Amino acid sequence: MADGNSETKSSNQMWGGRFASGPDAIMEEINASIGFDKKLYAQDIRGSIAHATMLAHQGIISADDKDKIVHGLNTILSEIESGQFEFSRRLEDIHMNIEARLATLIGPSAGRLHTARSRNDQVALDFRLWVKEELQRTEKALTALIAAFLDRAEEHADTVMPGFTHLQTAQPVTFGHHCMAYVEMFGRDRSRVRHAIEHMDESPIGAAALAGTGFPIDRHMTAKALGFAGPTRNSIDTVSDRDFALEFLSMASITATHLSRLAEEIVIWSTPQFGFIRLSDAFSTGSSIMPQKKNPDAAELVRAKTGRINGSLIALLTVMKGLPLAYSKDMQEDKEQVFDAAESLELAIAAMTGMVRDMTIRSDRMKAAAGSGYSTATDLADWLVREAGLPFRDAHHVTGRAVALAEQKGCDLADLSLADLQSIHADITDKVFDVLTVEASVASRTSFGGTAPNEVRKQIAWWRARN
Ligand code: ARG
Repeated sequence: MADGNSETKSSNQMWGGRFASGPDAIMEEINASIGFDKKLYAQDIRGSIAHATMLAHQGIISADDKDKIVHGLNTILSEIESGQFEFSRRLEDIHMNIEARLATLIGPSAGRLHTARSRNDQVALDFRLWVKEELQRTEKALTALIAAFLDRAEEHADTVMPGFTHLQTAQPVTFGHHCMAYVEMFGRDRSRVRHAIEHMDESPIGAAALAGTGFPIDRHMTAKALGFAGPTRNSIDTVSDRDFALEFLSMASITATHLSRLAEEIVIWSTPQFGFIRLSDAFSTGSSIMPQKKNPDAAELVRAKTGRINGSLIALLTVMKGLPLAYSKDMQEDKEQVFDAAESLELAIAAMTGMVRDMTIRSDRMKAAAGSGYSTATDLADWLVREAGLPFRDAHHVTGRAVALAEQKGCDLADLSLADLQSIHADITDKVFDVLTVEASVASRTSFGGTAPNEVRKQIAWWRARN
């Protein structure tokens, strides 16, 4: 060899039979995934124990080899958990790091563990197990967020605030109703989590490299041992599929988008100009130069993390879009996206749950804002339809003139005199004043899912029964 250096490199112990020298340093760097896939150690060990147990049960390996393997794997588990395990980049990934250590610990029996499996089904298994557990954590976190909103909604079922469209005052609503909008959003996110768990509830192990195996394995047994509903049904798909990761990232992106909209509202509501809420000290920061400031940093960071999470989804979709079946090494790029998105999402949900629980609601400010901007104009139009028999389009026109008059006089609709209103339409009576207050307005919206306090309380009860 011209390159004297290569002689000093050891050949890789897994495929050393074919390759005379070890990988070039750059190859090692681009190839290795141990830096991030060590996160899968517990899933890898659990999967290997289930696989070895099945191999022995089927008479493919001896009970003695199985016992040594299981004992060795448990030793490795405690070595990793106590920080004693030395991860090696030369051994590329978590699967080979563990298998190499097993060989050191138990000798030749270690070589029997990889019978009837490949790293392709092994990584698919480990990663699925990890994503499934992460989804279970996400489900719990969303349940806590929903519970926080239900409590605030109950407390503020009667608190009126302006409802907005185009961020312009539209009609009065209650803060409880607004909170329940988020309960619906995060409730849908939680059901997406549950569906994703159901979709991925199949065990990949035993698909081997891509074609299955000639050994008499029992995939139903390993699936059951690992808590899956059953084994996957096509070995080619099994090692090619990363839908479970994409579903996680899709769900994460939609949830993060919901969190970001909430974050944006918190940022707006906590400005002195709106003043609808006061954030707790725990979830805000001061300014190093402006002593009066209290900044909603946590909300802003939640809003920003959405960018990272959405980026992860696009990154993995892009990795997968051109891949022929079955496994390609491109797929190793799936993990960092998922790990990063999972960490960001967990943090964002927890921060939001804290903010929602802690924030002070300034009902007086909300109520004052609810009455401004002619928010009860629709109530006047509806009254004209109901009491004066006008077609809605005409009532809309009459109301528009009343708003113009109030604007000209610099007052609210409810402050116009009866004579003022009658100058616009002769059939208006003083009964109209009953519908022009914000309380009357929200109380009248009794349609299913509407903002009337009693309707909101019904929706809270519906969710509480399901939470
Ligand atoms: N580290 C690899 C990954 O994350 C494991 C599977 C490797 N399989 C292979 N045929 N090279 O995808």
